[in-house]
Amino acid sequence: MDKGLFITFEGIDGCGKSTQIKLLTAYLRDVGKPCLLVREPGGTGIGEKIRSILLDKENNEMSPAAELLLFEAARAQIVDEKIRPALEAGITVICDRFYDSTFAYQGVARSLGEDLVITLNDIATSGLAPDVTFLLDLSVEDAFARRKGRGEADDRMELLGSKFQEDVRNGYLKAASKFDRIKVIDASRSVDEIFGDIKAAIEERL
Ligand code: ADP
Ligand code: TYD
Repeated sequence: MDKGLFITFEGIDGCGKSTQIKLLTAYLRDVGKPCLLVREPGGTGIGEKIRSILLDKENNEMSPAAELLLFEAARAQIVDEKIRPALEAGITVICDRFYDSTFAYQGVARSLGEDLVITLNDIATSGLAPDVTFLLDLSVEDAFARRKGRGEADDRMELLGSKFQEDVRNGYLKAASKFDRIKVIDASRSVDEIFGDIKAAIEERL
């Protein structure tokens, strides 16, 4: 049996990942491709517990290294428990954030080191890499306006402010210049225009 396609979505908070993932999941199901949709951090019983520690606004004493290792721990769990078994069963896996988030947020914006994060990503995934990654690139101002429109309270990471989000955006663009699997998508356009690009890239691979 062919292995399933592993697709990840990345970008700063509020760039439009969930919106595009919903459209792609519906499209793949329509064309008869079974798919599993998961999110990071979380997606497993253990991962959701780690997620609540990571995003809890009360945890403002968390050390940057603890933060990094908790994201990687949640990742190791979801790769073992959900992602690898699904791919091996021929199921397409769509992940809302994966290890490029750690590269951009912890490696670059938190300045913990790009090479260190690449090494830890490799340990957490036992070498499993996405087949294609869509980086929804948007200005920090536009993403902030979209988040306000969504009307949800900010979590611990979202409270870090616009300089941090700017560093994250630059971190993602740096990842895209290193790894060919990352497709940079101009996310300032309409939902339909963005989805048109994503659908075309996926159709090429099906
Ligand atoms: P993320 O999952 O990356 O945080 P969302 O998909 O939740 O982002 O989008 C954030 C907000 O912006 C939502 O209210 C959503 O409806 C809106 N939105 C998403 N894509 C677009 C777009 N292309 N243009 C305008 N608004 C958008
Ligand atoms: P989430 O609500 O899933 O993201 P979004 O706001 O895009 O819907 O929140 C996850 C937060 O954790 C988000 O701010 C990005 C951050 N994060 C990291 O800092 N490192 C990581 O490795 C991952 C996966 C997420």
